[in-house]
Amino acid sequence: MNTPPLAGGTAGPDALAPLLAAVLDALRTGALDRGGPPPAGGPTTTAHRVHTAAHPLLPDHGTGPDAALGPLVHALTQGAADPADPLCAAHLHAPPLALAAAADLAASVLNPSLDSWDQAPAASALEAELTRTLARETYPAADHPDALLTTGGTEANQLALLLARERHPPPLHLVHGANAHHSLPRAAWLLGLPATHPVPTPTGTLDPEALHHTLTGLTGHPVLVAATAGTTDSGAIDPLPALADVCAAHGADLHVDAAYGGPLLFSDHRKHALHGLDRAHSVTLDLHKLGWQPVAAGILAVHHTGRLDPLQHTADYLNSHDDTEAGLPDLLGRSLRTTRRPDAFKMAVTLRALGRDGLGALVDQVCDLAATLADKIHHHPALTLHARPALSTVLFRPTDADDDQVAAVRRTLLDDGHAVLGRARADGRLWLKATLLNPHTQPGDLDRMLKLVEGHTPR
Ligand SMILES: Cc1ncc(COP(=O)(O)O)c(C=O)c1O
Repeated sequence: MNTPPLAGGTAGPDALAPLLAAVLDALRTGALDRGGPPPAGGPTTTAHRVHTAAHPLLPDHGTGPDAALGPLVHALTQGAADPADPLCAAHLHAPPLALAAAADLAASVLNPSLDSWDQAPAASALEAELTRTLARETYPAADHPDALLTTGGTEANQLALLLARERHPPPLHLVHGANAHHSLPRAAWLLGLPATHPVPTPTGTLDPEALHHTLTGLTGHPVLVAATAGTTDSGAIDPLPALADVCAAHGADLHVDAAYGGPLLFSDHRKHALHGLDRAHSVTLDLHKLGWQPVAAGILAVHHTGRLDPLQHTADYLNSHDDTEAGLPDLLGRSLRTTRRPDAFKMAVTLRALGRDGLGALVDQVCDLAATLADKIHHHPALTLHARPALSTVLFRPTDADDDQVAAVRRTLLDDGHAVLGRARADGRLWLKATLLNPHTQPGDLDRMLKLVEGHTPR
């Protein structure tokens, strides 16, 4: 067997061209054959189709690229829940921009690893440009803001908690709204912190008065408060300035999980909703949600670079003191990971190509779509709207259905391959959740979605 060609080097592009043609062709035919946002038929049908395309996965003698790449890309695409379909709207699962996916291809080809400069000269320089830019966007008035790249909101929240733990005598207590992402209490468990203090959020957001009450009970203990700018369930934004005041009065650190809502910063019309964000000691951002990036595109921003000091770490083969003294950038303290993909690259290309106004326009588009959907539901005779959307998430339910029927509508639409909708509990009831992240969605798509829900509700 000939040695398979490599992706990089001067010969790489010629080796890649026919393979990419096969990939693009299978992406096209796979989407056509799927015919909807998810594949119809549920897990058994999809698993069977994948098995047929992939078996045996490790043959004694390989099939060669033609029989592996095209058929498997086709199976992957035909069986995808494709967020580029307007009716795939369950989760904070963004349809990536073509531009960002193209940029990510270059990252895969060159495969720089961000754990040492000698594996990533340009990629690390670009990562530094990106983190500086995003840190400044988050903290416009800070003297030395900084940011790190993460695998997503979960890792950013974990790091925020770790950095807070390292700044205080143990044990650190985490206080968070009941509306906070599950990764926060899980991070406390991972880091060996005491059981967290969830503050009930009956209105959907963290109430400053209730926070004050909880912090009063923790007087004398080091505390990190985690607020949310864009909750997973409804996109609600906690009242950041008032929460920052309460934290300051109690000497508590403040972290804001803006994994969803952070990109409002790009929108002139909507950035006021994040007023007070820059009073947080750390902020989670995540451009694989409202930033249209392929996974992963998480960020942890900190108001002062010194906050990252606990991550400093030396491994002689990666960042020896003499190399650092000689001027080679020390990258190991920029993450807990060692080998790291150049996720900064696709984000840098996107930020430069679209600019603040281009990204802001996309944010406005999906938030306006959510407002349109809310209007349609409000005027619909058979549907109930939970609340006006703060971001791009809309909760609704068939008015006369019980919770089991609401759950069944979601599963039937999924099983039939008609739509991917999410679910959320609020006010003691189960709601359907439409998380609108696709800027190409049209009002007519929203009408189709509502018609499907109405048509699948048991009478
Ligand atoms: C508010 C919030 N924070 C954090 C996360 C976790 O992000 P990731 O899935 O990228 O780790 C999510 C995920 O939906 C989220 O909604």
